[in-house]
Amino acid sequence: MPEKVRPARPGTEFMDDGRRLQVLTTYARRGSRLNPTQQAAWDRNAGRWLVPEAAVDEKTFDVDRFFGRQAPLVVEIGSGNGEAVAALAAARPEANVLAFEVWRPGVASTFLHLEETGVANVRLVSVDAVWSMENLFDAGQLAELWTFFPDPWHKKRHHKRRLVTPAFATLAASRLAPGAAWRLATDWPDYAEQIESVLDAEPQLEGGRTPRWDQRPVTKFERRGVAEGRPIQDFCYRRV
Ligand SMILES: C[S@@+](CC[C@H](N)C(=O)[O-])C[C@H]1O[C@@H](n2cnc3c(N)ncnc32)[C@H](O)[C@@H]1O
Repeated sequence: MPEKVRPARPGTEFMDDGRRLQVLTTYARRGSRLNPTQQAAWDRNAGRWLVPEAAVDEKTFDVDRFFGRQAPLVVEIGSGNGEAVAALAAARPEANVLAFEVWRPGVASTFLHLEETGVANVRLVSVDAVWSMENLFDAGQLAELWTFFPDPWHKKRHHKRRLVTPAFATLAASRLAPGAAWRLATDWPDYAEQIESVLDAEPQLEGGRTPRWDQRPVTKFERRGVAEGRPIQDFCYRRV
């Protein structure tokens, strides 16, 4: 095991009395059981497409190593079942696309989508993307960032768990290269307002609401939002 050189990741540390250290995360704990199809996809692909958890604790973490090449780095936060990343990465063969998803069944389903589309330029990391943004990337390293249908955290007392907060916006913007885009979408109007007000107020970014990004495939969450009558709102902000 590599010597631990980075701060504790959410969900990985215990207190003296054995209880897990509670860290507020932008995701809820969900079942991690894989169905047989997902398990088979995991077994076929984790070795080549999943960045090992231990690797992110190493000081020498070098994302290019996992792609076997140096290329512009595109990051997706919360890739879910991987419908978007499989299609978008296929259209961007010149980029290394790194997808963060803490939900194991989602990672396994992403492997299936990647196999179907035959793309070779996606790697997955099943580690908290907020922690990773802070600890794994240098200022200006990202060529693009995608956040589609982030968990809405409806209840007012849960709003602090939303991904797009002023602190995260400052952090994420600092990791984008000058001119690089942060593309987002949500089907929740009050989250759309939060995204707009937070990102408008971030001095490292400029942009706003946009028409639906035509390259973005419709995912399960967009389908559900549409079926339930919610408006889909896309955003594009760029690092100034
Ligand atoms: C509502 S789903 C949307 C999934 C996908 N983007 C789509 O459109 O179908 C949000 C996903 O983000 C993941 N997620 C939330 N916060 C995360 C974080 N900090 N790091 C990694 N994944 C995260 C959740 O596990 C969940 O699968």
